[in-house]
Amino acid sequence: MAKILLGVSSSIAIYKACELVRELIKSGHEVKVVMSPFSERFISRLTFEALSGNKAYVDWEDDPLLHINLPRWSDLFVIAPCSINTLSKIALGIGDNLLTTCALSHKGKLLLAPAGNVEMYKNPAVQENIKRLRERGVILVEPEEGRLICQEEGQGRLASIQRLLDWIEYALRPKPLEGKRVLITAGATREFIDRVRFISNLSSGLMGFSLARVFRWYGAQVKVIAGFTTAEEPPEVEILRVLSTKEMYEKVMDLKDWADIIVMNSAVADYRPLETYEGKLKKQERLTLELVKNPDILAELGRLKKDYVLIGFALEERQKLQENALKKLQGKNLDVIVANPLESMGSEQYEGIILFKEGKAINLKASNKLQASELMVKELVKAIVP
Ligand code: CTP
Repeated sequence: MAKILLGVSSSIAIYKACELVRELIKSGHEVKVVMSPFSERFISRLTFEALSGNKAYVDWEDDPLLHINLPRWSDLFVIAPCSINTLSKIALGIGDNLLTTCALSHKGKLLLAPAGNVEMYKNPAVQENIKRLRERGVILVEPEEGRLICQEEGQGRLASIQRLLDWIEYALRPKPLEGKRVLITAGATREFIDRVRFISNLSSGLMGFSLARVFRWYGAQVKVIAGFTTAEEPPEVEILRVLSTKEMYEKVMDLKDWADIIVMNSAVADYRPLETYEGKLKKQERLTLELVKNPDILAELGRLKKDYVLIGFALEERQKLQENALKKLQGKNLDVIVANPLESMGSEQYEGIILFKEGKAINLKASNKLQASELMVKELVKAIVP
């Protein structure tokens, strides 16, 4: 877990930084907070000290080298909220307080999350400074659109905690998948019986969405084709929505040549009703539905395979987990298959096996699907990046 130096500057959005510290600590990171002098008028340093379990700093006190020592201690320097004033000072190399001086002496990765009035943010001088910072490799997490404290509408709200946490994990990872394009399917497809009823399954989309987040953390450009999902959408990832297996099939076929890696994680409905009633089907004593087989998207991708790495999933009885998964890997012409035992469905704990076509098999155990996704992506990186 990482050592994060969190800078906070004077924006009313500073109250959200308290939640950010809590969430970072919950994720296992260590946090030290450095505050701009004016920000103390919004929130006392005691709040940050209590939340982080570390001393929070506004000035040098008795350590004249504090502006060197704090950045040196950190793996990542995050400033959230970063006021427009602090942002511009950092862009111009001005160090007039502990926070901006820390930014000057910092050699590692810097992530800024600006917040402020929409007109201040759009100001050409500020936009030039943002461009300058980006050119220097600073990660800038754009503020969000919405109603601002000043009652105006527009871009200026500090990025949500979920987005910030995701960007922080992104900033902490190496980028071996830079330049790679990853297409992931997620969630459940729905097959309609009539206008209001359908056949589907319990997939939440969490595994596919977690994989999308982790692939992005490691540098890939990610697109997700999602059926119905209940899990929270991954930030900064393009999500294309579909309903039925047929729609998913068509979208996947459209995008397959765009992708370097395709991960078929969706729980695809294997059957659809032969006929869909246009209105609402009336109640009757008996109802027989005739179902027809849907196309196997993964098998079709295997049949048409040219340059992409193809990854499938298999849900199997524990006794024949590896044996059946291997049959699917060979039968569908896959490069990799992730096999999960039936018991893993709906469980918090993750267990599975990742099997490569060359015969390598690795057991995966994790306490949640995000961690499991990271284990998978790391194994894939080892196998596919020279
Ligand atoms: N899959 C697919 N199209 C389908 C059904 C499944 O692309 N119509 C994909 C899933 O996304 C998954 C893999 O195939 O990556 C395995 O799905 P699974 O349901 O375990 O196996 P099936 O091949 O459908 O076989 P069975 O249900 O008989 O085990």
